[in-house]
Amino acid sequence: MMEKTFLMVKPDGVQRGIIGEIITRFEKKGFKIVAAKFMTISEELANKHYNEHVGKPFFNDLVSFITSGPVLAMVLEGEDVIASSRQMMGKTNPHDAEIGTIRGDYAVVMNRNLIHGSDSKENAQREISLFFDEKEIQDYDKAI
Ligand code: CMP
Repeated sequence: MMEKTFLMVKPDGVQRGIIGEIITRFEKKGFKIVAAKFMTISEELANKHYNEHVGKPFFNDLVSFITSGPVLAMVLEGEDVIASSRQMMGKTNPHDAEIGTIRGDYAVVMNRNLIHGSDSKENAQREISLFFDEKEIQDYDKAI
């Protein structure tokens, strides 16, 4: 099914200079970037984005990390892109992520897991609309 998902290279990925390598994997796979924004997340937006984690022991660290520096927020479009991009990212804890996945290849600890991707259609819609206006999402044919 053609769908859209929200992906974000977190501050650790930006700081390490591997935005390009991360995006390249999704482009090579065949997914299409239809929106992108380089930005620093406010505390208010972080609270909304991570709403489901409010009250968890790692919540405060998570918010201070995600607001600590710029991120690259994106919308990707493609066939089954929600599940497929999560497969490409690997397990949330990089320690358990398989080699060949982004986290498995580039990360070692939970709180520095490089990338976020929506885990369901509902969350994809919610997260896309938190970060992007409808008019910021492009509609175009890929040349290939
Ligand atoms: P992410 O996919 O962005 O969603 C929530 C984030 O919380 C997760 O990636 C991790 O970076 C972070 N996190 C830290 N500790 C935990 C934990 N125990 N369980 C789940 N997520 C955690």
